[in-house]
Amino acid sequence: MIKIENKAALGAVSENDINALRSVAETAARTLADGDGAGNDFLGWLHLPSSIDEAQLSAIELCAARLRQDCEFVVAVGIGGSYLGAKAVIEALSDQFAAYKQSSGARVLFAGNNIGEDYLHDLMSLLKGHKWGIIVISKSGTTTEPAIAFRLLKGQLEHELGREWASRHIVAITDAARGALRGLATQEGYETFVIPDNVGGRFSVLTPVGLLPIAVAGFDIRALVAGAVEMEQGSDEPMLCYAQTRNALYRAGKKVEILVNFEPRLHFLAEWWKQLYGESEGKDGKGIFPASVDFTTDLHSMGQWIQDGERTIFETVLTVERQHHEVVIPHDEADLDGLNYIAGCRLGEVNHKAELGTRLAHVDGGVPNVVITLPTIDERTLGQLVYFFEKACGISGYMLGVNPFNQPGVEAYKKNMFALLGKSGYEAQTAALEARL
Ligand code: PA5
Repeated sequence: MIKIENKAALGAVSENDINALRSVAETAARTLADGDGAGNDFLGWLHLPSSIDEAQLSAIELCAARLRQDCEFVVAVGIGGSYLGAKAVIEALSDQFAAYKQSSGARVLFAGNNIGEDYLHDLMSLLKGHKWGIIVISKSGTTTEPAIAFRLLKGQLEHELGREWASRHIVAITDAARGALRGLATQEGYETFVIPDNVGGRFSVLTPVGLLPIAVAGFDIRALVAGAVEMEQGSDEPMLCYAQTRNALYRAGKKVEILVNFEPRLHFLAEWWKQLYGESEGKDGKGIFPASVDFTTDLHSMGQWIQDGERTIFETVLTVERQHHEVVIPHDEADLDGLNYIAGCRLGEVNHKAELGTRLAHVDGGVPNVVITLPTIDERTLGQLVYFFEKACGISGYMLGVNPFNQPGVEAYKKNMFALLGKSGYEAQTAALEARL
């Protein structure tokens, strides 16, 4: 099981400061469990792991097997919560050089998570001449970025492989009834999966939103779900500890939380975590700013700031006990690089010492930390971690006094973009915005 340890937070805050938040954290957890807090129509994720049944898992696996067998590439089109969970899990589990190696099943690529013209151009040119399919994911079914990418990719797929191939190799994941994507999927006869009404985007990784792309990438979604079930049915203690500690630190002036990893494969897990906490807590003029770094890489860039910059930060360190592969540093007779003192050591051992040294240095520099230990990186521990962070986020958001399940702030840029693009209904804002540019 994953474990949490907060003793290196002490100093910046006292044990009393953390304990003083116990009843607030417990009340928040009860509010979540009773479903009587703000945003309570979006609590479907809370018992999602244990409520996924055999029929749902088999349907996802069957669809994934078909796409894996028929396609060389499957493009998962989506943004935010309809993108980051699948990306995080797939990156964490994949061979990091898989793109340059032979693959026995379809490779999962991502689109619709940006509007980069060259990005889509490069992707579309890669797909030419191959057999490929699309999983288009949008809960609202109306989000601009995935809608644009899907229009272009659908057109290319139909043009190159024919309408029949396209309609058999496009899968839509969206609301049961609402939204443009639902209408389109019905009209074109696509296979569809439903995003439950009561599960918000950033809490949806354990629905088909995350599970289908993860299964297409060849990973064991049953083990992922089983890990999440273990966390769901276990004690709330780890989530309470995390929520209490980070809120105590926030109240003590630590406004920025940096999620730290020492494993490059966890980079996108941090991106997913930033969305989860950023969108859930950053509102009403409040909220810890979630940031992330990949160590030791970023010790040679952000390390200076973290060690010596403004003392408003704390770290949450993801530590991994066991790597999958062994790489040992060889002995060298000449020892011109001076590395013989670590000859015979595994790289994981060196990395671990770097981690311990960094944690101590940062504490000495006034940066407290919380440590989350993963026994290894596999489907089961990732399932545990996903549920751990989701539940702690719900508790922490309620402790902060915000509705963790809405995201009203996301609308502001959309309104301006629509007005600047001349979308009908936004005419009044267009002139005013253009005058400011
Ligand atoms: O967490 C959220 O609700 C958002 O990040 C959404 O997932 C994101 O905006 C994409 O929305 P949709 O799935 O409706 O296209």
